[in-house]
Amino acid sequence: MLSRTITLHFVSADGRASTISGKIGKSLMQAAVAGGISEVVAECGGKLTCATCHVYVREPFASDAAKLSPPGAEELAMLAFTAMPRQANSRLSCQIQLTPALDGLTLELPLSQY
Ligand code: FES
Repeated sequence: MLSRTITLHFVSADGRASTISGKIGKSLMQAAVAGGISEVVAECGGKLTCATCHVYVREPFASDAAKLSPPGAEELAMLAFTAMPRQANSRLSCQIQLTPALDGLTLELPLSQY
């Protein structure tokens, strides 16, 4: 039977590593908030209006569209408003839905969301 949770790794800007589990079907943002990852602020609660859920996705997930769907047009537009520099692997975590293919996903956290 497939597990209903996957493992997610976070690395803070100061190098501190945290591992949490996330429920499949929830957003990455929801899993991070529930897991106590305080760097994911998510001020708008996932409505795609704040850009304070910014994360940097590590390889091999960042460039593998089979594992992680690329950002949609609205997310791409909102990524212009991140506090820390936008990079090619920047994503808004509220727009990533957890799937079994994302097990082991590793995210780097920006220094600030403001
Ligand atoms: Fe506000 Fe993601 S939680 S844009």
